[in-house]
Amino acid sequence: MQKLKYCVFIALTCLCPSLHAQNKQAKPISTDLFGVFFEDLSYSADGGLYAELIQNRSFEYSASDKREWHPLTAWEYTTQGFGYGTLSVESAQPLNTNNPHYVLLNIEEEGQQGIGLTNSGYDGIALKANEKYNFSVYINQLSAKPVSMQVQLRGKKDAVYATATFTTTGSGWKKYTATLTTDQTADSAKLVLLAKNKGKLGIDEVSLFPQKTYHNEQNGLRADLVEAIAGLQPKFMRFPGGCLVHGDGLGNMYRWKNTIGPVEERIQQRNIWNYHQSVGLGFYEYFRFCEDIGAKPLPVVSAGVSCQNSGGTWRIGGTGQKGLSMADMADYIQDVLDLIAYANAPVTSTWGAKRAAAGHPKPFNLQYVGIGNEDKQTADFRERFKMIYDVVKAKHPEITVIGTVGPSPSGEDYDLGWKFANQLAVPVVDEHFYEKPDWFLTNNARYDNYNRANSKVYIGEYASKGNALINAIAEAAFMTSIERNGDVVKMASYAPLLANTKHTSWNPNLIYFDNKGISPTVNYYVQQLFSANQGNLFYPDVVSFDGKTGKDLVLAASCVKDSKTGDIILKIVNAGPGAAVAKANLSAFKGLGNDASLQVLSGTPDQKNSMAEPGKVLPVASVIKTGALAAYTVPAYSLSVIRIKSKSK
Ligand code: AHR
Repeated sequence: MQKLKYCVFIALTCLCPSLHAQNKQAKPISTDLFGVFFEDLSYSADGGLYAELIQNRSFEYSASDKREWHPLTAWEYTTQGFGYGTLSVESAQPLNTNNPHYVLLNIEEEGQQGIGLTNSGYDGIALKANEKYNFSVYINQLSAKPVSMQVQLRGKKDAVYATATFTTTGSGWKKYTATLTTDQTADSAKLVLLAKNKGKLGIDEVSLFPQKTYHNEQNGLRADLVEAIAGLQPKFMRFPGGCLVHGDGLGNMYRWKNTIGPVEERIQQRNIWNYHQSVGLGFYEYFRFCEDIGAKPLPVVSAGVSCQNSGGTWRIGGTGQKGLSMADMADYIQDVLDLIAYANAPVTSTWGAKRAAAGHPKPFNLQYVGIGNEDKQTADFRERFKMIYDVVKAKHPEITVIGTVGPSPSGEDYDLGWKFANQLAVPVVDEHFYEKPDWFLTNNARYDNYNRANSKVYIGEYASKGNALINAIAEAAFMTSIERNGDVVKMASYAPLLANTKHTSWNPNLIYFDNKGISPTVNYYVQQLFSANQGNLFYPDVVSFDGKTGKDLVLAASCVKDSKTGDIILKIVNAGPGAAVAKANLSAFKGLGNDASLQVLSGTPDQKNSMAEPGKVLPVASVIKTGALAAYTVPAYSLSVIRIKSKSK
């Protein structure tokens, strides 16, 4: 028998209380239990989900994003064929004041091929054969005569994959568009924009999108990543962060109003995770994304304070929290109210009209708003949180506010945060835990004795510090306890969701990707199995464990019913190295079918998926006789999800 490395702390036992009791009454549980949390971290948005292929498209990168960055990062001045001239970054006649920098290209001599600039994308531009790409650029023709332009997708050694041409049509900033079609699949192409005759041009907002974004939407999202997230069947999506929301100092606080409207007019900013936010994926796109994948939107706004680690090293210090001045709070609170209006107000209202102008007259049906993220529980925080909360509560009783109780599952901020939330009767608070697998196993009973009269819980961020099977199984064991306590735990989301393998600033994540593909982790499949098999009623004591249980076995189970289908769903987890026997007592359920679908995720504790082997550990589906569940052999290190169909539906 394989030695148990991970669970030696517990001479175990089954994590389900009162094993052999008869079926008790069903308990209604949250129907929004499992969702996702998206943060632009590790290039999740720019260079990831947001399908824009041009990096630094509006020449707004700067050293404040990253020390070595500047307005021409990812760009190169291109003179081939003996042309010459000058290229500089200017700000005298910008496209608009929110987008201050542009390139001034002065073509003194065009030579044989023209002169211009080349963008290398995010670590190269990945192209797919026979797909179409939408190119666009804003040009201000500053010389008298029109200038012939050529745009190309090129590969290594300047092999030309696609070409389009257009001619400028006079002074003033104008948008030019072209479609590029390539018969090449390439990993690291580049975009080359050349002026083919003498003249002077202002150039800005150079953009290239695949036509095949998710749902073919304009300013859209990368289809494979959205499909993977949609595959989780999340009931909600929390966005846009995390730490990103409260920001590294007050100036860096995320302001949703800066992220809507025409992309070239949005106000970009430094990403707290040490890169740049184009905010091309802004609040309109977030709401649309939620709607596309059937997830309820859960936007989070800062509680009027910046991150307590502002200006310092991550998780060290705790002295950097700054509060907005009281003079600024009224406007700030209005921003929060306007956010609710942007999502929900009729088209005849100011903010509903803006939503309609963006393309969505119907409301987005916002039900949840998060205020704050892991904030240090200072007097500054409390004062500002209460100001925002009181107004939202009074004006929008239909909105469920989610508060915050610090960065950890215990400790000073956690205790103070809970006390404060209970005083204010905040409907739900956001708990976070990044802990080892052992913690998830030993804390299985965490919510069993929570005071049901207090604020309810959203576990907004959790992960067991690894992407091996043992991590995923420990999380699965804990998730059975979330279902068991689905009356008090209203929602839960693993974190972080996405990471670009070339720019990963936080591990572990749920889905890794590069320019070409994705690799869902084993943890992803646990999330998917739970999320796709949620119920609205929890039944205690349906599954018990018997027989060859050894001291190293760590077993957990839950039983829920999905009343819409009538299906009974069992989740059975074995986090130990030996097989066990689970006994399902289904006698309380009438009209169940004879066959049940079974999905099993199992393997050795160290096994992982990777970009090289994305499908190494996958759930295996089969059919099992319902009668066989009276004695079901639970493999070592496994999650089994068993769905027993109701005969009547
Ligand atoms: O998920 C990554 C970070 O972890 C989040 O931004 C923050 O809320 C937490 O500390």
